[in-house]
Amino acid sequence: MGSLRTQVGIVGAGPAGLLLGHLLHLNGIDSIIVESRSREYVIDRVRAGVLEQGTVDLLMAMGVGAGLERRGLRHDGLFISFRGRRHHIDMADLTGGKAITVYGQNEVVKDLIESRIATTRPLYFDAEHVSFSAVDSSSPIIRFRHGGVDREIHCDFVAGCDGFHGICRPSIPNGVLATYERVYPFGWLGILAEAAPSSDELVYTCHERGFALFSMRSPTITRLYCQVPPDESIDGWSDGAIWEEMLTRMTTSDGWKPNVGRIIQKGVTPMRSFVAAPMRHGRLFLAGDAAHIVPPTGAKGLNLAASDVLVLARAMKAFYERGRSDWLDEYSDVCVRRVWKAQRFSWWMTSTLHRFPDENAFDHQRQIADLDYLTSSRAAMTSLAEQYVGLAPEVSFESAGL
Ligand code: FAD
Ligand code: DHB
Repeated sequence: MGSLRTQVGIVGAGPAGLLLGHLLHLNGIDSIIVESRSREYVIDRVRAGVLEQGTVDLLMAMGVGAGLERRGLRHDGLFISFRGRRHHIDMADLTGGKAITVYGQNEVVKDLIESRIATTRPLYFDAEHVSFSAVDSSSPIIRFRHGGVDREIHCDFVAGCDGFHGICRPSIPNGVLATYERVYPFGWLGILAEAAPSSDELVYTCHERGFALFSMRSPTITRLYCQVPPDESIDGWSDGAIWEEMLTRMTTSDGWKPNVGRIIQKGVTPMRSFVAAPMRHGRLFLAGDAAHIVPPTGAKGLNLAASDVLVLARAMKAFYERGRSDWLDEYSDVCVRRVWKAQRFSWWMTSTLHRFPDENAFDHQRQIADLDYLTSSRAAMTSLAEQYVGLAPEVSFESAGL
């Protein structure tokens, strides 16, 4: 049995766990990260692409933004497409110069793993049977098996950064958390294709056959999504059928359409809104998808994970440096306010752009009127733009030691 000691035991090496580990490191606070998957699996997992202005600023301020600066694609605007026409929303003009940056989540994770390894602080991949106990005491213990050896981490705090399907949230006793949930009657089929992006900016499309989204990863890789039934199997979609559906939904009357190329990755993701609160039980703090899920239409999940751990790092810094626990006590309330605003925005983007199986002709005409208003009113476009580039951070970077 290997017994280890640290200040903060972090469960999960996704964006939340890795960002928290680095923020703590920058403040001289020790942590051990325990991840159930392999390093290759974590890096290869294709997910988010859109970073809010505040997330970009955070990564730069943390000194982990070199790859982002070199390969990230700054977008000052986006398109909303319906009835065969693309409508431009100039986000930078509407928000006083703010933008989003397209940089794959797997690139963010790869950069953060490299930074973690450079700090020489521990990060265990392939951890088995991860569990913890005594989070209602001042010395919780995380247990796991690694390389055939059973290990125990004695720590001051546990950070539950293990995503929606992790063990941290379900380990909290019944009755402690309130949960709020909506499951959508559709999912997204997503592909990566070897094709130069045919637009410099994202195109969100509401088509009669359903939602579609044009995005990218690099000057040679296009990323596309389309709405499908929630339990759709990817095996039922040949590459030819995927291209036919994507092109049918996205081609506009001026002839714009995505470039076609070899499909190098494909999958189907379900869509859900979920909040668990409070994001704390004793010395266990939940962050990121472990506490909340948004449908991807608003591109908020990774960004929310980043803002949670900024608030948590500030609170832990104050605890270790000044013996203050009031910011730990406020952690959940501060995060949950932002979470609900992101929930509201993500639900609104989803409802405005997708077709619902139970909608009638009235609902559809109202939806088109919504889109018509959105793309013709500067006030409506400003509201979309300020939420899409990201609301101001809840706490200052300085208060988290940056
Ligand atoms: P995760 O990334 O899920 O990381 C949790 C980690 O914990 C994983 O590595 C997992 O292996 C590990 N783990 C799980 N169980 C255990 C255990 N028992 N022990 C140890 N480790 C464990 N967000 C955006 O901001 N912008 C976007 O454009 C965007 N687009 C998206 C598109 C798609 C198709 C999808 C699916 C998601 C998208 N998201 C987007 C959401 C974003 O990917 C997530 O919100 C983000 O991954 C959350 O990070 P996290 O660290 O909280 O959780
Ligand atoms: C991407 C993902 C999203 O969820 C989104 O809203 C926009 C872009 C992407 O993967 O590029």
